[in-house]
Amino acid sequence: MSLIPVIARLEEKRALDHNHSLFRFIFKEEQMREKFHFQPGQFVMLSIFGVGEAPISITSGPDEKGFIDLCVRKAGRVTTALYSLEENGKVGIRGPFGNGYPVDKMRGGNLLIVAGGLGIAPLRSLIRYVLWRREAFKEVAIVYGTKNPASLLFNEEMRELVLRRDIKCLLTVDSAQDNESWKGHVGSVTDLIDMTGMPLMDTSVAVCGPPGFYKYVLEKLLSLGCSKGKIYMSLERRMECGEGKCGHCVIGHKYTCIDGPIFTYWDAINLPEIF
Ligand SMILES: Cc1cc2nc3c(=O)[nH]c(=O)nc-3n(C[C@H](O)[C@H](O)[C@H](O)COP(=O)(O)OP(=O)(O)OC[C@H]3O[C@@H](n4cnc5c(N)ncnc54)[C@H](O)[C@@H]3O)c2cc1C
Ligand code: FES
Repeated sequence: MSLIPVIARLEEKRALDHNHSLFRFIFKEEQMREKFHFQPGQFVMLSIFGVGEAPISITSGPDEKGFIDLCVRKAGRVTTALYSLEENGKVGIRGPFGNGYPVDKMRGGNLLIVAGGLGIAPLRSLIRYVLWRREAFKEVAIVYGTKNPASLLFNEEMRELVLRRDIKCLLTVDSAQDNESWKGHVGSVTDLIDMTGMPLMDTSVAVCGPPGFYKYVLEKLLSLGCSKGKIYMSLERRMECGEGKCGHCVIGHKYTCIDGPIFTYWDAINLPEIF
């Protein structure tokens, strides 16, 4: 882990929709490229020199070496400056930070991944981890929902996942205009959870999406008998240091940057202000 920013070069940027792009960074120092290890669900502090820093989840898989991918929404100062950065431009990267998904606990069992909108960013890293060692998991299902077909992030990749036979991947949108070529489901991700047909009593579930998304997904999961200790959700808080020193991300007695950002539902209901 690097507590001071190390220099990385913007290798490539690719628009995913009108407000989200994928940024690929390569560390300047070769040694750093080798030794940068992370868990799915961890994040980095990305700094744009002269502008500031922002926490961003790593969206590439931990087995992909030599680069890291970040999927970023243009939100404010840092992310807008990132969008203006030319290829080969330099940024600072600290981390990786946070706990990540408990992949060792998840291995050997069923896994359901539930994503909404930009929530696919950290979950894509988990998906890549799982596909790299598919035999280490039993049944795997992915359900992903966005507002409309144009806002489906990683569109091609997602459609490839739908065609795979070793996992079940289902996509949905809140609405599709008649003239759009969307042949998939229209409706809530909770419909898709039913459609996976997966027995959820003893399944690990990783959920990430916008704030309103959690309420109805969690209700659905609990109604299907999911264990509160096996539902893993990602909590976002304002962060400054990323390393448990400044107190900006504290919820109750937990630091989101070191105890999280991944919490079980069981842990989350025992934190103030969450539900
Ligand atoms: C652990 C973690 C992982 C994240 N991963 C990603 C990611 O993969 N991709 C991505 O695009 N973004 C991610 N974010 C969110 C990102 O860090 C914020 O959008 C950040 O504020 C962007 O910095 P900025 O300077 O561009 O925006 P700012 O100028 O800081 O603010 C932009 C707007 O967002 C609001 N805001 C800022 N932070 C938060 C927050 N945590 N919760 C709610 N509202 C907020 C501000 O009030 C303002 O309205 C993550 C955040 C956390 C904590
Ligand atoms: S961001 Fe500083 S303590 Fe968590």
